[in-house]
Amino acid sequence: MAKSTESAHAHRKDEHLALAQTTYEAASASDFDQVQIIHQGLPELAATDVNISTNFGALSMATPFYVEAMTGGSSRTGSLNQQLAEVAATTGLAMAVGSQSIALREPASVASFTAVRKANKTGLIFANLGAGHSLADAQRVVDMMEADALELHINTAQEIVMPEGDTDFYWLKNIETIVAHLSVPVIVKEVGFGMSQETADKLQSVGVDYINVSGCGGTNFARIENERRHLQERSYLTGWGQSTVQSLLEVQKSPLHIFASGGVRNPLDVFKALILGADAVGVAGYFLHVLMTDGQQALQDEIITWQTALRDLYLLTGTKDQHSLHDVARVLSPALLAYQTQRGL
Ligand code: FNR
Repeated sequence: MAKSTESAHAHRKDEHLALAQTTYEAASASDFDQVQIIHQGLPELAATDVNISTNFGALSMATPFYVEAMTGGSSRTGSLNQQLAEVAATTGLAMAVGSQSIALREPASVASFTAVRKANKTGLIFANLGAGHSLADAQRVVDMMEADALELHINTAQEIVMPEGDTDFYWLKNIETIVAHLSVPVIVKEVGFGMSQETADKLQSVGVDYINVSGCGGTNFARIENERRHLQERSYLTGWGQSTVQSLLEVQKSPLHIFASGGVRNPLDVFKALILGADAVGVAGYFLHVLMTDGQQALQDEIITWQTALRDLYLLTGTKDQHSLHDVARVLSPALLAYQTQRGL
């Protein structure tokens, strides 16, 4: 598939990727830094007794962090998808693909997604589609990937900033239908603007079991869409949304299974998301940055380092397995505490 023959939609995928990379900056100030874990000098645990695997609902992951939804749709993004999938297969990580709506319209783009399943025959793979799509389309993208779950993204703020974006956001009934009939679990996912308890409650009321709060603090789609058009008329939205930490506080009493993503920079951020209630933690922008800057081997090495470091954090805090995560003593900054109080969380 030569670049010149690719569609405007495929071109948009390349632009998102390039802008995610050029606008990438490891957040020097993050809400994750506003959560302090209390050091305990006597963990009464050995490294050999630590188990970092996570099991929730119908899903099991040997490592509780994974490669979050990013890409597919063009030849360039297809080759990145393949590299991400090879790394995920080698390191035993789950992986989500980017939105497959382009694959429903443009058969030539299907291979850029299915390359992921080809490279990782037995691993956990999440399909991805917008929440406005029909049940039939949702089942098609799941079948295309032989996916283990579907991430159904809700991205109102991104659509608002995109000139060609949707403005019809009656999604809840559609989500209910998809959740009730799809052959695999559905994870309703934000794309970097965070989730509120009200949204989580609405989702729960229509039968959703899994949410991904994907908060702000990392990849910023308001900024990416503004830069893409070389226009800054929606630049006042670049600070829109709740951070991942605030979102986890929002849903801390929710009975739903919770994925977190958004601005995760290191294994300590992963651990903090887990102790704040996440069952699994997605990493998009940072892994993409490592892959595009230093290559596939570097990403693989980085993930292996994170796996070891995460085990060390469990050990340091006396956390034997996922069941003891909520016992880890933590203190919130005054700003987070005020947020929690004002929101009545
Ligand atoms: C994304 N993200 C995303 N999410 C989704 O559900 N469907 C998609 O198609 C995409 N596309 C996409 C492209 C690129 C290049 C990036 C970097 C990200 C959003 C992603 O899954 C995640 O929710 C946010 O990026 C926040 O996580 P990070 O990047 O801060 O770790």
